[in-house]
Amino acid sequence: MAGEVLNATMSAAGGRDKEDINDPVYLRIRDLVYQTCGIYHSEEKMYLLTAACKRRMATGAVKATNGREYLDLLTNIAYKEAETRALLNEITIGETCLFRSMPQLNALKNVILPELAQERSKIGLKKLKVWSAGCSTGEEPYTLAMFLLEQKESLLKDWTFEIQATDLNDRSIETARAGIYGDYALRNTPDEYKRKYFVPAEGAKLRVRDDVKARITFQRLNLNDDSRMLFMKGMDLIFCCNVLIYFDMASKKRVVQHFFSSLMPNGCFFLGHAESLYQVNDQFRLVHLPGTTVYRKPGPEPAKAGKP
Ligand SMILES: C[S@@+](CC[C@H](N)C(=O)[O-])C[C@H]1O[C@@H](n2cnc3c(N)ncnc32)[C@H](O)[C@@H]1O
Repeated sequence: MAGEVLNATMSAAGGRDKEDINDPVYLRIRDLVYQTCGIYHSEEKMYLLTAACKRRMATGAVKATNGREYLDLLTNIAYKEAETRALLNEITIGETCLFRSMPQLNALKNVILPELAQERSKIGLKKLKVWSAGCSTGEEPYTLAMFLLEQKESLLKDWTFEIQATDLNDRSIETARAGIYGDYALRNTPDEYKRKYFVPAEGAKLRVRDDVKARITFQRLNLNDDSRMLFMKGMDLIFCCNVLIYFDMASKKRVVQHFFSSLMPNGCFFLGHAESLYQVNDQFRLVHLPGTTVYRKPGPEPAKAGKP
């Protein structure tokens, strides 16, 4: 009885209907999603995709009442771009929070930034370009902006920095631009940062101060869009944390190759805590630091004696 209730509830919510998982219509939608953004739904994850399609159909904004009609929309020249975008907004998982990885920030402060600062100063360049790829609702790039502002009092004195923050999900980018966060998103944020870089907002929420926001440019960018990725150039630091876990190996390899090209020599690439580039890319140098690992793009080889 309890099982029946659960099944009925899950069906109503667009849950794990077994017949959908092998339905050729939903398998075709899976392929479309994969080709568009690199996110791959394995058999165990198919229920997430079918549930997302059903949520779209339940909005009333979509003229489809079953999978077949919904697939027709996704392939119809007049609707496909807007509907695919809306479906991707349903599919993407934006779990995040401010100050998600202290070991990464410590690595930045203690090793990566001092080395970069020393190297860039040699050529008189005092500017850092940072990319938060898959920034969700903005917590990661705001953390980086506040953290780098703190370093301007010592390590990065006289330096400027800019942060590009990108995500596939339009709704997340909108929330990110607003920069208003409640207790849950702020649960790891040190009090001194709350006092220094936020102002009170509605309810008990806090809003990121405008001078922090001014450091960041938010835009929608699909990491699977090769032509747009080519424009992301000259980065010193790239963070792509907890994003590629949803990709299959082929898409991961392609996206990481873009990140490699986007980085300046000696620039660094950061992944999420449980991720690695094992079997994905072997061009980076792995740097082991307390509690975290960082991938560095090698600099130019020093010229050999006797060679021009
Ligand atoms: C779990 S969140 C990670 C947020 C943040 N980087 C962190 O670690 O806290 C994953 C984000 O990746 C984004 N994403 C997934 N596929 C993407 C793609 N093809 N292009 C750009 N962003 C994508 C999702 O929209 C989502 O916001």
